[in-house]
Amino acid sequence: MRQSLVVGNWKMNGSIQRNQSLLDSLKENIKSVQHAQVGICAPFVYLRQMSELLKGTQIGWGAQNISHKDSGAFTGEVAASMLLDFDCKYVIIGHSECRNLYGESDQLVAEKYAKAQSVGLIPILCVGELLEQREAGETENVVGQQLDAIINLQGIASLSQSVIAYEPVWAIGTGKTATPQQAQDVHAFIRQRIAKQNAGVAENVQILYGGSVNGSNAAQLFSMPDIDGGLIGGASLKANEFLTICQAAQ
Ligand code: PGA
Repeated sequence: MRQSLVVGNWKMNGSIQRNQSLLDSLKENIKSVQHAQVGICAPFVYLRQMSELLKGTQIGWGAQNISHKDSGAFTGEVAASMLLDFDCKYVIIGHSECRNLYGESDQLVAEKYAKAQSVGLIPILCVGELLEQREAGETENVVGQQLDAIINLQGIASLSQSVIAYEPVWAIGTGKTATPQQAQDVHAFIRQRIAKQNAGVAENVQILYGGSVNGSNAAQLFSMPDIDGGLIGGASLKANEFLTICQAAQ
């Protein structure tokens, strides 16, 4: 049986002070969430603070991107291995903002995914289509290709050491959530595509939904059979809202 997982994606938000008060209230109340896993992916510069404040709690933490290289002359980049110095568990890979704003290709995303796994981090692999791709009936093609890039480089079994997040780009930060059925359809497609190569991996891999999840729509989304939790942007910056979403995942 798959456990649910809810991961906050803080994106480029926070300050030492604001993080402290957000994490303090989460820590105080997270014990009410006994049957779902919880994680937070923060900006690199706050990872030390995350490890100081979250060590020993049930909340795991991680980063939002890494380099596809091990080390060397790559100004501005951060290597997967560096995250281990801050006891990270997760790293988001291939978020649509990285794919679309910084031109990360399916191949580059796959290389980053491989680097994350090579040091024992759990990649949270984001896939999802643009609005015009959905309107053109291309959703399954796009998501299928994003997934195949990973499988071709790392093999199907690698997915058992990862989390997948389906995030339709048109639903991210827009307040326009996919309906539970729209999300379920793509989640089922992803699981079936994996099942064609390895039924056991398909059965066990956690597939999260992301895109304008909030305290009011989370329970309905998470009730769908192939939705195993959420990747939460804006709503993860408010303690109460994030806790409500975590509770909805149980
Ligand atoms: P959102 O972001 O919840 O603010 O739509 C989700 C994400 O980008 O991971």
